[in-house]
Amino acid sequence: MNYRRKIIAGNWKMHKTASESKTLVQDILTELKDWNDGDVVLCVPFTSLAIAGSILESQTIVELGAQNLHQAPQGAFTGEISAGMLRDLFVRYVIIGHSERRQYFRETNALINQKIKTAITSTLKPIVCYGETLQEREGNQWRSVLETQIKEGLANFTEAEMETVTLAYEPVWAIGTSKTASPAQAQEAHAFSRSILNQLFGKTVAEKTRIQYGGSVKPDNAQELLQQEDIDGALVGGASLEARSFATLVKKGCQPLS
Ligand code: 13P
Repeated sequence: MNYRRKIIAGNWKMHKTASESKTLVQDILTELKDWNDGDVVLCVPFTSLAIAGSILESQTIVELGAQNLHQAPQGAFTGEISAGMLRDLFVRYVIIGHSERRQYFRETNALINQKIKTAITSTLKPIVCYGETLQEREGNQWRSVLETQIKEGLANFTEAEMETVTLAYEPVWAIGTSKTASPAQAQEAHAFSRSILNQLFGKTVAEKTRIQYGGSVKPDNAQELLQQEDIDGALVGGASLEARSFATLVKKGCQPLS
């Protein structure tokens, strides 16, 4: 076991209205009463941040996250949301560079790099997603794809800036497909990612940075995945939309295999 504290985040994507979110946040808090064996983050839609923030602000078990932000501090960017707007609603984390944003909204590594910079300067903790497609996995190109995404996404940051960054390895072929990477496949990609961090920032950052796995993580596979040496948590889509299933996943994921 390594000493990194586990971090499990729910990515609700475009699910749940504000009133549905209120119920789900309350139910998750009830299920996770007195929980303290790992960090838990809920990345809810923008329209649910205010209600979720008002519930979460008075406790320390679950923290609030957003799913995206704009890189500029403010300005004429119709429909966009700034880091300051998120901070004001008790948001602590923000997902950046999710494969759905890369694929459907044409986000590039350079843009993702700017967004990470904005998050860090605004004291939001970025959860930086990266991962290969099925074609890239089958063509045995996954190492070079991950290396480029990590190097370009994290270009020009200092060791100090890396302190609040969490990475999330999400193989695109495992997202929403029920095809999970095997624990050995995921571990191999995580260890490789950590070696890139070592090249970029040195040993201390490489050993401290938490790397989540994402892609069809469920209550029944969380423990084996999160038991791997270089897997420090999970970024969970579908299984985070139901309180009991998410809480079970959190508890199992943070429990050593006996
Ligand atoms: P699923 O857990 O639904 O596969 O989604 C993973 C994901 O994209 C989390 O960001």
